[in-house]
Order: sequence, then C-alpha cells, then structure tokens
Amino acid sequence: MTQNQNTLPLNQILLTDCINLLKSLPDESVDLVVSSPPYNLGKEYEARKALEIYLEEQTIILQECTRILKNTGSLF
Ligand SMILES: C[S@@+](CC[C@H](N)C(=O)[O-])C[C@H]1O[C@@H](n2cnc3c(N)ncnc32)[C@H](O)[C@@H]1O
Repeated sequence: MTQNQNTLPLNQILLTDCINLLKSLPDESVDLVVSSPPYNLGKEYEARKALEIYLEEQTIILQECTRILKNTGSLF
C-alpha cells in the first residue's frame, strides 16, 4: 500500500515491521526520522543475525529513510 503524502497518518504509533512501513511512504514526505535500531548484540529483545544479513537489512532501512526524507529533513 502506497500512501498519498496528504493522507500520511498523524499522531499515531504504528506497530509494524519498519521496512514494510517505510516502503509504503512516498519520496520526500517526512520531516524527521528518529531511530533506535537493533544492535545485533544478542540483547533480550533481539535475535542475533549474521553480520552480513544485519548490515544488509540496516542498509535497506537507511536507504528507505533517505528516500522518504524531505531535502530539509533530519535523521537521528
Ligand atoms: C535498540 S532496541 C530499541 C530500544 C528502545 N529505544 C528503548 O529505549 O527501549 C531496537 C528495537 O527495534 C525493534 N526492531 C527490530 N527490527 C525491527 C523492524 N524491522 N521493524 C520495527 N522494529 C524493529 C526491536 O524489537 C527492538 O525493540
């Protein structure tokens, strides 16, 4: 599902896989991304993955964040 820039959800917490959500958002539609990604250290809330797979997934996520950010946007 691709979202129209004028129908982006406001003031909502969306519990979903961030990759699917990011891919549904239009280019240059977001002012701010604040992320606390998994560390891949085997913390209690994460399953440790092979480093190559972890880096591949995080690269895709960061590419999507870059795509959806406005030119004036920020990512933390
Ligand atoms: C470093 S922790 C965040 C800790 C949080 N900032 C805190 O202070 O409690 C990373 C979180 O990302 C979640 N996570 C991992 N992969 C995800 C994904 N693809 N989509 C959404 N959340 C994900 C994990 O379940 C975990 O809760």
